[in-house]
Amino acid sequence: MAQSYELIEHTYDTIVVGAGGAGLRATFGMAEKGLKTACITKVFPTRSHTAAAQGGISAALGNMDEDDWRWHMYDTIKGSDWLGDQDAIEYMCREAIPSIIELEHYGVPFSRTPEGKIYQRPFGGMTTHFGQGTAQRTCAAADMTGHAILATLYQQSLKFDAEFFVEYIALDLIMEGGECRGVLAWCLDDGSLHLFRSHVTVLATGGYGRCYLSCTSAHTCTGDGNAMVLRAGLPLQDMEFVQFHPTGIYGSGCLITEGVRGEGGYLTNSEGERFMERYAPNAKDLASRDVVSRSITIEIREGRGVGLEQDHAYLHLEHLGKAVIQERLPGIAETARIFAGVDVTREPIPIIPTVHYNMGGIPTNYRGEVVTLEDGNPDTVVPGLMAIGEAACVSVHGANRLGSNSLLDLVVFGRSAAVRCSELIEPRSAHKPLSENVCEKALDRFDAIRYASGDQRTAAIRLDMQRAMQNHASVFRTGEVLSEGVEKINQVETAFKDVSVSDRSLVWNTDLVETLELDNMIGQASVTIRSAENRTESRGGHAREDFSARDDKEWMKHTVIWRDDDGKTTIDYRPVHLYTLTDEVDVIPPKKRVY
Ligand code: FUM
Repeated sequence: MAQSYELIEHTYDTIVVGAGGAGLRATFGMAEKGLKTACITKVFPTRSHTAAAQGGISAALGNMDEDDWRWHMYDTIKGSDWLGDQDAIEYMCREAIPSIIELEHYGVPFSRTPEGKIYQRPFGGMTTHFGQGTAQRTCAAADMTGHAILATLYQQSLKFDAEFFVEYIALDLIMEGGECRGVLAWCLDDGSLHLFRSHVTVLATGGYGRCYLSCTSAHTCTGDGNAMVLRAGLPLQDMEFVQFHPTGIYGSGCLITEGVRGEGGYLTNSEGERFMERYAPNAKDLASRDVVSRSITIEIREGRGVGLEQDHAYLHLEHLGKAVIQERLPGIAETARIFAGVDVTREPIPIIPTVHYNMGGIPTNYRGEVVTLEDGNPDTVVPGLMAIGEAACVSVHGANRLGSNSLLDLVVFGRSAAVRCSELIEPRSAHKPLSENVCEKALDRFDAIRYASGDQRTAAIRLDMQRAMQNHASVFRTGEVLSEGVEKINQVETAFKDVSVSDRSLVWNTDLVETLELDNMIGQASVTIRSAENRTESRGGHAREDFSARDDKEWMKHTVIWRDDDGKTTIDYRPVHLYTLTDEVDVIPPKKRVY
């Protein structure tokens, strides 16, 4: 039993954990509807990882050429390698159009066409006429679209009466009788602990890219919400699907936007060959990310990598000219100069596939409600709990996300969660009583880690975990390599039992923060690599060399995985939603992907 901690209690209609694009869109959407809303965030809102999104946000506006949301829906289903839920994808692609107009009205400074319309660029896997032509569907604010959207959403949040708790670490969900009743959090500034009670708690805590050694994710991307869900005895879904962005800067992992290839940039190998023409004769450099990442990896493996170690590829944009680079890709020019020492107007950028996005996460329906599998019902709603953004698995991205569908997912489902809460909650209605010891388990965990006095350093365990994930759950996988990885993650889990925290204080104790985050990441590394070992087929971002074909008969289903307090995992499955919400579009049947 933990030492006794004094808890400061707060009562809200809704609590949002996380202040990235999804969290902010949900927060002010709820406050706008009269719900007493608080947003708890470990970083100041405009420092959230959404700020790093570069290339744009998709919507079939048709500003550059003809477009249709049904084509967007088709591309997203095909891009997901038929693991995406078609009802949710229909909702997202249709709602994309009003969502972007709404963002424009909020004040997002989109780039413009000469006629003053929102500028749109082509991105991988985006087509017209169900795969026939190339769509220009990605709405851009130069190459800083995430930054522009995040700042605008935060400005909107300030207009409404939402309260922000900044630099608070969410520790655990408060669950009682199978319902979520709120969240326990730790305030870094003064070391106090807080019990936030709410009718609905919305997890908008982002992905867990930092489980890997090389990723485009911020250091804050430790998947804290996913880990809280596992500790609450609920499952995560499709965790084996980890997206590698083809163009992370070699050495640092910084993102170089797909927008570079959308503007006409291309990849070459050591022979100066534009090798994507061989792998994807139609889409070439704008094939979907899983295809481009695998192609680069094959080039390197077959000895055609560039550089001293022949272990990366080149991305060219010199030919675009200074004016285009200055107008549309200024951030890339700066990033390449700082992190690769490259002047992009004269020389190519050295790049390598780098972990970028988690398609898996907390299973939800398209209204943001968390679902679990219970008594044979795969869509059982968990009362009081929602998830949105990269933390969630709606599942609109299935086995592989198309570029620019992520910012879209944030705003569409952030808004959808707000709408759902306004239907479910009577503003300022009374809360059910909580039992006295409801926080005990969460406080015991916090206390045990705070006073951990083993022999192993947090940083050393984290590095072992990141190396194991990078080497054993990578672009290509085999059963043998994955099971070696499972063994390494077992060792990491054992090492964590012997972790040491040297600072026992509660005010800005970064040693404790990093150790809590490591605990969160270990849970996710464990379920990711085990789900990958279990799925004996190739689909989207999960490429098994020992099972190279997609197997729709056996595997067109979502993996759901639980992890108990002893680290033991259990796997089951949910069916893919092969139905639509309306009759405006037909179900898109699985077929081979051709690029
Ligand atoms: O390449 C990019 O700009 C990234 C966009 C995305 O992940 O959606």
